[in-house]
Order: sequence, then C-alpha cells, then structure tokens
Amino acid sequence: MSFAKSREWFARAQKSLAGGTSSVFRKKQKPTPLYFTKGEGSRVWDADGTEMIDYTLAYGPQILGHSHPALVAAVQEQVAIGQTYGAQCELEFIVAEKLLSILPGCERVTYATTGSEAVQVALRLARAKTGRSKIVRFAGHYHGWMDNILVDPRAGGELGACRTVSAGQAEGPLQDVLCLPWNDLKVVEAALARYPGEIAAVILEPFLANGGGIEPRPGYLQGLRDICTAADVVLIFDEVITGFRVALGGAAELYGVTPDLSVFGKAVAGGFPLSVVAGKAAILDQIAEGRVFHAGTLNGNPISLAAALATLTELEKDNGAALKRVRQLGERLQDGMRRVYAERGQPGVVQGRGSVFWTYLRATPIDDNSQLASYDGAPYVALTEALMPEGVLVMGSGRWYVSTAHTAQDIDLTVKAFDRALAQRQV
Ligand SMILES: Cc1ncc(COP(=O)(O)O)c(C=O)c1O
Repeated sequence: MSFAKSREWFARAQKSLAGGTSSVFRKKQKPTPLYFTKGEGSRVWDADGTEMIDYTLAYGPQILGHSHPALVAAVQEQVAIGQTYGAQCELEFIVAEKLLSILPGCERVTYATTGSEAVQVALRLARAKTGRSKIVRFAGHYHGWMDNILVDPRAGGELGACRTVSAGQAEGPLQDVLCLPWNDLKVVEAALARYPGEIAAVILEPFLANGGGIEPRPGYLQGLRDICTAADVVLIFDEVITGFRVALGGAAELYGVTPDLSVFGKAVAGGFPLSVVAGKAAILDQIAEGRVFHAGTLNGNPISLAAALATLTELEKDNGAALKRVRQLGERLQDGMRRVYAERGQPGVVQGRGSVFWTYLRATPIDDNSQLASYDGAPYVALTEALMPEGVLVMGSGRWYVSTAHTAQDIDLTVKAFDRALAQRQV
C-alpha cells in the first residue's frame, strides 16, 4: 500500500499550509498523514480510493459514524435557510433544553466552538465564582492547547513546576497551575491544605480517555466531589471525549458523580464545531449578570446546533438504545482482540470503555499515566500500519473509538484483520 496520492498531496500542502496538516496531532500519522475523500457509516475512503473501517472517528466526534442521514438532512435544511446571524435563533434554547434533560445536574449551558475554548470558559467561570486563581489539573489529562492549561505531563506537583509544551507558550499563566498525579485523593487533599482558600477549580477527565484509557479508582470521583464541596472549589469534568459517548449523560451519569461544571465538545454535534459548558445556574449565570465575559462570533450558530439536535435526537431514541449497542459492539471487539492476543501468545491488553478504549502490546494494564512514558509504542504503530491494507484504520496512540454506525460484521472483520496484522508484525 503506497498511499501515493496522500503522499503527493502532503508534499504539496507543506508548501502552502504550515506543517502540511491543520492540527499537530495529525502529523504523527504513519506512514504518512492521510487524505480522505469520503466518509459514510463506519467507513472512510482515502485519496487513493482505499476503503477502511474507521476506528479513529476524527478523534471522537463521529459518534453516529460518517454522513448519518438524519444529521446530513438537518444540516442541509438549516444551511439552505440561514448560516449564522450573530444573533439569536430558536435552536439555541431547543438544544439547551435538550441538554438540560440529558445531563445530570445541569441547570444552564453556554456554547462555544471548540473544546479548548469551552475549557477556558469553565476556568474563567470558576475563578470568577470563587475569587481565587489557582487551578488543579492532573498529569496526562488533556484540556486543549491554550497557554494556561497545556503542560508537560512529566513536570508538576509543586506550584510553579509546570513546564510549557510549545515554543512561544507563555509561562506566566502556568504559575497558577498545579499538575498532580491522578487517581490519588491524598495529593489533592494535600494541595488544598497547602493552598487554603486559593484553589478555584479542580479539572479532570473523569475517565482518562487521553492519557491511556484509565478508569477512576472506586470512590475517587466521589472523593473529589466531597473534597471540592468542603473547600468551595469548583469541580469541572472535562467530558470532551466521554460526553454523549460512554453514556448519554457522559461520565457523570456513568459514575454517578455530578460536577459543578462540565465541558463538552466532539460528539455533541456529531462532527460539527460546537462545544458546551454545562452545570450549575449559580455559576453559569455569572455570564447573564455580565460579570463573566464570554463571546464568540460563531457561538450557537444554527448549523452546529442543527447538527447537535439531530445527533442528540438519534442518541436519545428508544431509551438510548444506540449507545448501548455501541458499548456492546466495543466490548465484542475488545473480547476479540484479547482472544487474538492470547491465541498468538502476544502480550497485549485492552482497557477502557466499549465506545472508547486503548490497547497496548504489553502484559499488564496501564493504570498510571507515568507508565506510558516508559512504554515503547513503536511496535504498536507498526501494527496499525499492517491493519491499513486489511481495511482497518486506527490511531497510532492505541486509542480506538466505536460509533453507532459500526456493525457486528465490521467488528468480526476487524478481529480477523487484527489477527492477520498481528501475525505479520509478530517477532
Ligand atoms: C478531554 C479533552 N478536552 C479538551 C480537548 C480540546 O478540544 P478541541 O480539540 O476541540 O479544542 C480535547 C481534544 O482532544 C480533549 O480530548
């Protein structure tokens, strides 16, 4: 498989488009950043015409798969009558009402465009509410690319110890950030004791979808909830990946713990640019009162909201049957992969949720993000390259996403392909 067209287009793009790709993560794709010309259901077609079952799902948003008919119809209908007004439209409150009915403990929402932006809104709301400036975050969790939250996961622990990731990233805002090890309540208690009355928010991915596919320890999320309540700290769940995926009501529903604020993106509009900050009225109403500045030309644009309404309506149907099916299909895939590892005598683990999980070529699960630092991911990347000619597209990191468009037949084909690719790559 040469990916000739993608290679040719990538070479051409690099002469006009900085870096050749529109997001830094995409550049990592091996053997070359791929170009796609079509997506339908569970499949994508690359520029060379190769059809692949897609488990990348655009890094998560395509919860309904590609070009779902209801989503396409809703967007086409909206785009024909109005694109964006820089003013109000009915869909703003229709979608808001739906979100209130779906998300646990949600009394208000506000819209932005990307997950990174919505995180910023949540942090600002938390700082405004508490009158404090410090933020607790956790190593290996990703909350977008902005200066004040992007940190090198290897540093942290102490205030002032966070290191920048990018050239040009301002260091000043990180002075207010504590980056702690995750899944350990004692370190959070210690941080709050050390900086009494100074911490505005604790932000985390409630299921660590970015840094390894790691579950919160039993009682951990509730423990954070209790600690934050006692210290008047705003608890923020970053559900950009888990929202409308691990359950209709996201990780808050799955684990039965309600944060003060939640951030959503990706799946909420099935592939259209929309993000949401949701949570308590007492915090979000600071926007209404004009205390907290929140703006954005494309916030609440009708096209993204039409996409969100169609997506949420599909996911809600039959008492949330679609996501239950996704979970079952994901578990079937995971079981198949585990069987393949065992039959081939290849050390391999599969961990995570049905709809979003990770696999590693190692004998024991990753239960701490720091273990990722010592894991050699190169053999797995080679495996992903061997999966492509088998018609299976996955991310090189080890993360897999499943959509409502995948079928049992896709899963069974994928397990067979996984077996062949593993055989080919085994040393
Ligand atoms: C958990 C989490 N939060 C925030 C973001 C940032 O979202 P966006 O890429 O839409 O800015 C991401 C993106 O992958 C994410 O996974």
